[in-house]
Amino acid sequence: MMWDQAEKLRKMVQSSSGKKGSSVIKANRTNARVITVTSGKGGVGKTNFTVNLALALAKLGQRVLIIDADLGMGNVDVILGRSTPYNILHLLDGGFSLMDIITEGPLGIKFMSGGSGLYNLANLDDSQLTRIINKITLLDDLADIILIDTGAGISKSVMNFVVAADEVIIVTTPEPTAITDAYAMVKTYVSHSGTAVLKLVINRVMEPDEGKIAADKLIKVALKFLGLTISSLGFVYEDSNLVKSVKKQTPLLLAFPNTASARCIEQIANRLLDRVASSKTTGVKGFFNKLLGLMR
Ligand SMILES: Nc1ncnc2c1ncn2[C@@H]1O[C@H](COP(=O)(O)OP(=O)(O)OP(=O)(O)O)[C@@H](O)[C@H]1O
Ligand SMILES: [Mg+2]
Repeated sequence: MMWDQAEKLRKMVQSSSGKKGSSVIKANRTNARVITVTSGKGGVGKTNFTVNLALALAKLGQRVLIIDADLGMGNVDVILGRSTPYNILHLLDGGFSLMDIITEGPLGIKFMSGGSGLYNLANLDDSQLTRIINKITLLDDLADIILIDTGAGISKSVMNFVVAADEVIIVTTPEPTAITDAYAMVKTYVSHSGTAVLKLVINRVMEPDEGKIAADKLIKVALKFLGLTISSLGFVYEDSNLVKSVKKQTPLLLAFPNTASARCIEQIANRLLDRVASSKTTGVKGFFNKLLGLMR
C-alpha cells in the first residue's frame, strides 16, 4: 500500500473520532485502555490469563472487552464456554451493528472474535474500511479496558498488534526457553520502534521466588542490552485447577475463586489499575490508526 493510501486510512480513523452519539454515551470519559497480551513462546498460558484477568478486572468494576486476535487457534470462546458465530468482518454487512458481533460473558465481560478480518484490514477497500472503523471505534464507549489476546509474538502480524497497543502484557513461564523467547520477542519489538508500555507476567511458577528471579532476569537484560524498561505485574502459580477449569470450560476465577492462583490474578488486576494508564492512551481509535499504518 502506498504511503498516501495509508495516510488516507489514518484520516478515516481520525474523522470517525468526531462521530455524533459517542460523546453522548460517554461524556467526559477517557478512551479505553488497549492492552495486547502476547508471549515469545506459544502455549505459556496467554489465553487463560487474559480471560481470568478480564474477570478479575470486572470484579473491580471495570467494563472489559476481550478481542480474540489469535488467528486459527483462537480459543477465548472455548475457555469462556461461549461461542460466537460472528467476527469483525461481519461489520461489513450493513445489517450488523457492533453489538451483534459482541458476546456477553460471565460477570458482564464482553468478547469479540477478530477472525481473519483483523489481519486483512489493509486489503479492504476504502468504503469497507470506513464501515468497519466507524463501528469499531464505538468500543471506546463500551469498555474501560480492551484486552487483545494474540498468538505468540514473533510474527509480523502479531507484532503489529503489539506495536499498536498502548500497553502490552508479556506472558512467560520461568522456563529458560520461554524467557529466551520472550527476550527475542522484546528485541523484535524494539526493532519495530514500539512505544507501548511493557509489562511482564510470569505464569506457572512453583514458588514466589521462582517468579521473581525469572522476572528480574528478563527485566535486567532488556534494560541493559535494549535500553528498554519493562515493569513486573507479578506471577501466577502453577495450578492443576487451571487444567481442570479448561476441561470444565469455566474460567479459574469462577470455578476455583479461592485458590492461590486466582488470588495472583486478582493481584495483577489490582496492579494494572494502580498504575495510572500512560497519558498517551489513544483508545480504540488510536489503536486502529496505528495498526492500519503498520499494515500498509
Ligand atoms: N498457571 C497454570 N497452571 C497450570 N497449567 C496452566 C497454567 N496456565 C496455563 N496452563 C496450561 O497451559 C495450557 C495452555 O494455556 P493457554 O491456551 O492459555 O496458552 P496460550 O499461551 O494462550 O497458548 P497459544 O500460544 O497456543 O495461544 C492450558 O490449557 C493449561 O493446561
Ligand atoms: Mg492462546
